[in-house]
Amino acid sequence: MKTMELRLTVNGNPHTWTIAPGDLLLDVLRREGYFGVKRGCEKGECGACAVLVDGRLINSCLMFAAQAEGRDVVTIEGIAHDGRLDPIQEAFLDHGAVQCGFCTPGMVLSGKALLARCPHPTEEQVREALAGHLCRCTGYQKPVEAVLAAANGRKPRNGSQNGSRSRRKPAVEVLP
Ligand code: FES
Ligand code: FES
Repeated sequence: MKTMELRLTVNGNPHTWTIAPGDLLLDVLRREGYFGVKRGCEKGECGACAVLVDGRLINSCLMFAAQAEGRDVVTIEGIAHDGRLDPIQEAFLDHGAVQCGFCTPGMVLSGKALLARCPHPTEEQVREALAGHLCRCTGYQKPVEAVLAAANGRKPRNGSQNGSRSRRKPAVEVLP
């Protein structure tokens, strides 16, 4: 099998990995132990595999690993610092925005990318930023509240309830 070397930085650490030219970034990251990068639909529909590449949110199931040559990749494993969770991670926990957690890494990274370019987003902007993520557990209201709270340094409201949101492009049917 033809192989090649991939040089990139993941969560601040430089790596040189041997890959096949057709390997997906999703597969290479998981092979190297970054299991916070989740394998969902593998079609760019669910957002579970999202990572930051040079600060941009990318579905790693749609990117060849070779395209990450020389780039800076951030996964969910890389956003806590000095033993402290990122404020968005804290907000997801505080607001009950995590249940099984499968969608959470992608949502948190989406929120992080949004706040990096727009520190004080509107609710509509947050909903737009999270629109590429499917969650089968919490609904979407709590993740939206969590990102808004992280932006504003707020703690959760008591009695906050799960809610729903409209998606521009429904990717899955939810069975009753
Ligand atoms: S696994 Fe990549 S978007 Fe669903
Ligand atoms: S928390 Fe389970 S899929 Fe979102």
